[in-house]
Formats: sequence, C-alpha cells, structure tokens
Amino acid sequence: MFITFEGGEGSGKTTQIEMLKAHFVRHGHEVITTREPGGTPEAEKIRDLLVQREGGNWTPLAEVMLFFTARHMHVETKIKPALREGSIVICDRFTDSTIAYQGYGHGFDLQILNDIKTMSIGDFEPDITFILDIDVKDGLARAGKRMANHDDATTEDRFERLKTDFHERLRQGYLSIANHHPQRCIVLDATQNIEDVHSQIISAIQL
Ligand SMILES: Nc1ncnc2c1ncn2[C@@H]1O[C@H](COP(=O)(O)OP(=O)(O)OP(=O)(O)O)[C@@H](O)[C@H]1O
Ligand SMILES: [Mg+2]
Repeated sequence: MFITFEGGEGSGKTTQIEMLKAHFVRHGHEVITTREPGGTPEAEKIRDLLVQREGGNWTPLAEVMLFFTARHMHVETKIKPALREGSIVICDRFTDSTIAYQGYGHGFDLQILNDIKTMSIGDFEPDITFILDIDVKDGLARAGKRMANHDDATTEDRFERLKTDFHERLRQGYLSIANHHPQRCIVLDATQNIEDVHSQIISAIQL
C-alpha cells in the first residue's frame, strides 16, 4: 500500500504521518516513511535546489522537470522496491503537490505537467491520498510558529513566502484534484484536533 499526504504548509501532514506510522508499527506492519521532493540521496540534492530560499531562480519548466527528476529517482529506487518487499510506504507530498503548486498555484499548463508526469513515472499512483484541507491563514500561522526558531538562507520556505492568493489557488487546486480522483483522494478537515484527524485516517485505511 502506497499512501500519500497532501495539503498546504502547516496543514498537519508530518504530524499525521508520524501517528499513522506508529499505528501500523503497533499492528506489526513493515512501514517506511519518506518525503518529496527528496527521499533518496540524489533526490535530496535536488530538494535543496527546489525548496531552499536561495536554491535557484528556475524557470517554471525547469522547476517542474526538477521535481519529476527527483520523483522518478524516488519511485524507482526507493518506493517501488519497498512496496515489492511488502512494506507500506507513506510519503509526505507526491505528484499532487506539483499539480497543486506548479499547476493550479503558478498556472503551469496542466496538460504539459501531465505529459512530464507520464514520461517520469508512467501511471504510478498512490493507492490512497489524504488531503489535509485548512483555511489559508490558519495553515500559514501554524507553519510560521514552527519556523520561528530557524530563519536563514537554508530555511525551507521558498513556497511558504508566497502570497496569500497563491495559497488560496493552491487550496482550490487540491480540492479539484480530489474531485477528479474521488476513488483515491480523501479530503479531511485539518482544523479538527490532531486526534480526530488521526481517527478519520484510521477509519479510511480500514475500508
Ligand atoms: N490538527 C491540528 N491542530 C492544531 N495544530 C496542529 C494540528 N496538526 C498539526 N498541528 C501543528 O501545526 C504545526 C504544523 O504541523 P505539521 O508540521 O504536521 O504540518 P505540515 O503539513 O507537515 O507542514 P509543512 O508542509 O510545512 O511541512 C505543528 O506545530 C503541529 O504541531
Ligand atoms: Mg511537514
């Protein structure tokens, strides 16, 4: 089973992934957690170029191709091998993030994005995707609190520093993705408390 978590900054992805992993471990499952961009040594190098404040001034096409170069490495050298060995794989962000941020957020052509996706990872998709939906202001406030003690050129905030209207398009983008893939995506109200979100995730994976 390949499970991904999506949603804006501060929506609670990392928090919920840790809780879900603990749940699986308690039930005796092999589970690995990983993240995008990154997840392998090569892809983590690309991550730095993409997410650090001074990572680079990429054209939109170069940025999308870097995301999918990293994702291709991640899928081929880590995710698929782990799934073949019977592990559950939980990933913090995946293709939907590129569609939501670069596509819906920045207006990158969705058809071209989809073509690059097909070239990079074929029809590989998560089995289940949790989209943590939160009001833009609340999400940024949560992310901001967490970063208060780390603020320098390596801070991973290139995307968090974008304007509120970008984050609104991002949120609507995620909701559109969920509408287009109702069998894979589950939208959760991320303003609920941590335990309530977690128990909805547990119910969903037991379906
Ligand atoms: N349901 C919740 N209610 C209140 N606070 C929460 C909730 N879930 C997470 N938080 C808190 O909000 C902050 C951000 O959570 P977390 O790091 O899990 O979000 P994230 O989606 O992984 O963010 P990022 O995309 O920036 O990595 C943390 O301080 C976390 O403890
Ligand atoms: Mg996180």
